[in-house]
Amino acid sequence: MTHTEARTLTHREPLMRVREVSKSFGKREVLSHVNVDIFPHEILAIVGDNGAGKSTLAKIISGFYVPSAGTLHWHGNNLTLSSIGEAQNLGIMSLFQDPATCENLDVTSNIFLGQEIVKNRIVLDKASMRQTAGQVLASLMSPLSPDQRVEGLSNGQRQTVLLARAMLGDPELIVLDEPTASLSVTQTAEVLDRTLKLRSLGISVIFISHNLPDIFAISDRIMVLRHGKVSGIHAVSETSYEEIIAEIAGAATAGKIVRESALRSMQLESGRGGRRTLSRIRRPRTPKVQE
Ligand SMILES: Nc1ncnc2c1ncn2[C@@H]1O[C@H](COP(=O)(O)OP(=O)(O)OP(=O)(O)O)[C@@H](O)[C@H]1O
Ligand SMILES: [Mg+2]
Repeated sequence: MTHTEARTLTHREPLMRVREVSKSFGKREVLSHVNVDIFPHEILAIVGDNGAGKSTLAKIISGFYVPSAGTLHWHGNNLTLSSIGEAQNLGIMSLFQDPATCENLDVTSNIFLGQEIVKNRIVLDKASMRQTAGQVLASLMSPLSPDQRVEGLSNGQRQTVLLARAMLGDPELIVLDEPTASLSVTQTAEVLDRTLKLRSLGISVIFISHNLPDIFAISDRIMVLRHGKVSGIHAVSETSYEEIIAEIAGAATAGKIVRESALRSMQLESGRGGRRTLSRIRRPRTPKVQE
C-alpha cells in the first residue's frame, strides 16, 4: 500500500471504532477516553512508553478485558465482547507476547489445537489438517513444515505457528502485541514481512512495538498512547520520528536538547538491529531534527 492509498483509508467505513473507552483496575484508571478507528486493509501501530496502556487497549479490542466505560463498534454495529472466543468468532484474532504452543506436538497439531478436523464425527482427519496447515503456512510465506515438531522452534517460528492458527479463523483484524520483542534481527524482518503479507491478504493489523524504525517501515498510521490517553494519531507519511517521540515522552514543549537526546537514543537503538531489518523492508524516513 502506498502512502497515498493510506491517506484514502480514512475516507472508508472503519472496521472497528473505539469510542471513549476507559479502563480502570481498582481505583486506577489506565486507559482514559480512548478514541480510534481501525480501517480495513491497514496496519495501525500503537506506540507508547512502558505502562502507557497499549496492551490493555489491545486486550479490550481482543475481548480479553471488558472496558470500564465507552464502546466498540464492529462494521458499524455496537459490539460487546465478553471473551476472546467471542472476538475470534467475529474475525478478531490476537497474538500476545509469549507464544503458547504445545512442545510435544507437531506444527499441524499446534495450528489445529482446539479446532481439529474430524472425519465421521470420531477420527481426526490428519491428512486434511496437514494439507490445510501447509496451505496456510505457504500463504504466510513460511518455510515451516507441517510435520515439524514445535520443540526446538525459535520464538519467531512459534509465532508463525500461532499466526497460522489465527488464520484458520479467517480473520479481518489481527492484534499483534510486541511480536518482535524477543526476536533476532532476521526473525524480526520475517515478522515485518509477514505483517505486510497479512495486509496484502486484506487483513487489518494492530501492531504494538517499541521499535520506531520498524513501525515507520510497515505501518500506515501510528497512534501514540501516553499515560492511558491518546496523544496523537498520524498517517506515517505525515509525521516524523521527532513528533512521535515527543508525543511518547511528552517532550513537545521541552526544547531542543530533550528532543535531540531522545532522537539520538532511537538512532542508536536502530543501529543495533533495526537498520538491517529495515534495509530488507523499506527505507525509513530520515528523522527531522529542528535547528
Ligand atoms: N490486570 C491488571 N491489574 C492491575 N493493573 C494492571 C493490569 N494490567 C495492566 N495494569 C496496569 O495498567 C497500566 C498499563 O499497562 P499495559 O500493560 O497496558 O501497558 P503497556 O503500554 O502495554 O506497557 P508495556 O510497554 O510495558 O507492555 C500499567 O501501569 C499496568 O501496571
Ligand atoms: Mg504491553
